Amino acid sequence: MSPKISFRDVVKTYPMKNTTFTALGQVSLDIGDREFVAVVGPSGCGKSTLLSMVAGLVEPTSGTVTVDGAPVAGPGPDRGVIFQQYALFPWLTVRGNVEFGLKLAHVPAAERRRRAEHAIELVGLADFADALPKTLSGGMKQRCAIARAYAVDPEVLLMDEPFGALDALTRVQLQDQLLDTWTQERRTVLFITHDVDEAVYLAGRVVVMAARPGRVHRIIDVDLPYPRTEEIRLSTEFARIRNDVWTQVYHQSPAGSAA
Ligand SMILES: Nc1ncnc2c1ncn2[C@@H]1O[C@H](COP(=O)(O)OP(=O)(O)O)[C@@H](O)[C@H]1O
Ligand SMILES: [Mg+2]
Repeated sequence: MSPKISFRDVVKTYPMKNTTFTALGQVSLDIGDREFVAVVGPSGCGKSTLLSMVAGLVEPTSGTVTVDGAPVAGPGPDRGVIFQQYALFPWLTVRGNVEFGLKLAHVPAAERRRRAEHAIELVGLADFADALPKTLSGGMKQRCAIARAYAVDPEVLLMDEPFGALDALTRVQLQDQLLDTWTQERRTVLFITHDVDEAVYLAGRVVVMAARPGRVHRIIDVDLPYPRTEEIRLSTEFARIRNDVWTQVYHQSPAGSAA
C-alpha cells in the first residue's frame, strides 16, 4: 500500500551570517494510512520542522514531502495541526472556537453546529460549550484546540507536543482520550513529543531523531495491542520498549560515527 505521508531525501537549511545551518539532513520516512507515528528526539533535532512541512507551513530546501502521493503545497483542511500553545480566540466560546475552522471551510451553519457538537462531545467538553477560554483550565483549553482540529475531520492529525504544557494527570487523560478517538475514527497521526513514555504508549512506531544535522536515527516498532490500557502501561514488554527508545534518544553517537 502506498504511504499516506512520505518524506524523500528531505533537507532543510537556513542561511546564517557566513554559512548555512542544516536543520534537517536527508530525511526519508514513510507513514502509512491510519498509522499512529510518534517522533522523539533531542531539542533542536528538527521535529517541528518535519511536522511543519507536512502542515505546509515550511518548505523543504530539497527533497519532497508528499501526502497521498501529491507534494504538499500549503496548508489544507485535510491536515489538522495541534500545537503546544492552544491558540484559541479569547472572544469566542468553546463552540465558537470549534466552529471557526468550519466557517472558513464554508460549511453551512446547521452542519457546522452538528460537527462542532460531536467534536466537543468527543473531547469531553460538552458541559463547557458556551464557556470562554479564560474560564477554562489548561487541559480544557487544549481539549478545545483538539476538538477544533477534529471538527474539520482531517485525514491527517499533526500534533506538536500537544500535551507538553499539561500536568501529569491531565496528560494521561488526554492520551487515553486521543487513543479512544483514534480507535473509533482512525486517522493518520504524526505526534511529536519529548516524553518517551507518551510516545510508546500512543504509537505503533516511534521514530527517534538525532541532531546536528537533524535526521532519523532509529525507528522502533511498538508491538503492543490496542486498546492500550493501564495494564499494558505497567507491563514488562512496555518497559522493555520504553528502555529501548530511551537508550536510542539519550545515548546517541555523534553524527558520522558508528551508531
Ligand atoms: N526560521 C528558522 N531560522 C533559522 N533556524 C531555524 C528556523 N527554524 C528552526 N531553526 C533551527 O532548526 C533546528 C530545528 O528546529 P525545530 O524543528 O524547531 O527542532 P525541534 O522541534 O526538534 O526542537 C533548530 O536548531 C532551530 O534553531
Ligand atoms: Mg519543536
